[in-house]
Amino acid sequence: MDLQGKKIVLGLTGGVACYKAAELCRALVKQGASVQVVMTAAATQFIGAVTMQALSGNPVYTDQWDARVANNMAHIDLTRDADAILIAPCSTDFMRKLAHGACDDLLSTLCVARPRRLPLHIAPAMNVEMWENPATVRNLAQLLEDGIKVFGPAAGAQACGETGYGRMLEADELLEDLVAAFQPKVLAGKRVLITAGPTFEAIDPVRGITNLSSGKMGYAVARAAHEAGAEVVLVSGPTALAAPRGVRRIDVQSARQMHDAVMGQLAGQQVFIGVAAVADWRVSNASDQKMKKTAGGAPQLQFSENADILAAVSASAAATGAPYCVGFAAESENLIEYGAAKRLRKGIPLLVGNIGPQTFGQDDNTVILFDAAGHTVLPRADKLTLARRLIAEIASRLPQPL
Ligand code: C5P
Repeated sequence: MDLQGKKIVLGLTGGVACYKAAELCRALVKQGASVQVVMTAAATQFIGAVTMQALSGNPVYTDQWDARVANNMAHIDLTRDADAILIAPCSTDFMRKLAHGACDDLLSTLCVARPRRLPLHIAPAMNVEMWENPATVRNLAQLLEDGIKVFGPAAGAQACGETGYGRMLEADELLEDLVAAFQPKVLAGKRVLITAGPTFEAIDPVRGITNLSSGKMGYAVARAAHEAGAEVVLVSGPTALAAPRGVRRIDVQSARQMHDAVMGQLAGQQVFIGVAAVADWRVSNASDQKMKKTAGGAPQLQFSENADILAAVSASAAATGAPYCVGFAAESENLIEYGAAKRLRKGIPLLVGNIGPQTFGQDDNTVILFDAAGHTVLPRADKLTLARRLIAEIASRLPQPL
């Protein structure tokens, strides 16, 4: 539960995207947040306060003159113990109000009255012309300058029938952005290159050799690095996973393609994390045409060794001083001994050993970190939790600028 114990003020303003706010409210509660909904009068035209009350499990506030609030100071009381305010959907007009510090309804007043430590995030939702209107562009610049975080908007088909930027993000995307906003920015401004997933080594145009890597660990590491403020490039073999938000993914199939993509992206990277399960061999006599099943024998496949991407990056780092290299190892026995030896063989400062080959495809994992000082066992956890821990460990080991 990524938002366990967090108190979120969820503000709704006028827009068709209010229907997505219902889903979002449910998702926040499911992640352990306690949600306090505040709606503008326009928002209540799009979705009923009763719906939001049922989903949040808390009374909804729509009016600054609400007689239920004994001291009549809802605009103060609602934010004092909150951990974040998220306005979703945020209309063009509400952006204007925020940019000018307007206080003409409960939601705008509580935003202005919020403690300075309290983060305010908005998820704009509007027609493309409204989003691109110079007045909105001016207000957006002001909001960014004021430290307000803007989630989205996305481009695509709009409720009005037009197409372009202004669609509010989906509930799961907003949840991911909000969770990310809470993570410590231990890799702020750093550039991180990650490999993930299996590789696929062709036998012919329709057949090939691959492995059981799901990509879950590598994708979790990419998400955790992005959450920590890094600019992340993820070179991924074939997986069924969606790229984490804000991460640039380069899709490859074979180990050779993965090697070339990594080498092409290497300049300027400060961290390289090789999570991919890269095939050790490729078929050197792969056929251009689909192999025919012929009587009297199976095809004779020949193999040649693939380049070790991690070792190549580590060799380049030894020559240039960057990036800081992290490898993964899946061993089925003697992990402590093999892990320590593998770290030295690859010439890397940090190696992550998976305990047991059964990690492939699982959501949970137990890992051991190997570095020059020895090894540390991280307690069993889901892969995203482990990935966040790993990112913190990497950040603490990075050379500090003088
Ligand atoms: O030697 P082994 O395959 O066990 O090493 C695993 C580590 O090396 C992982 O970090 C993996 O991503 C990386 N690797 C690589 N290129 C290869 C083989 C492994 O980058 N050809």
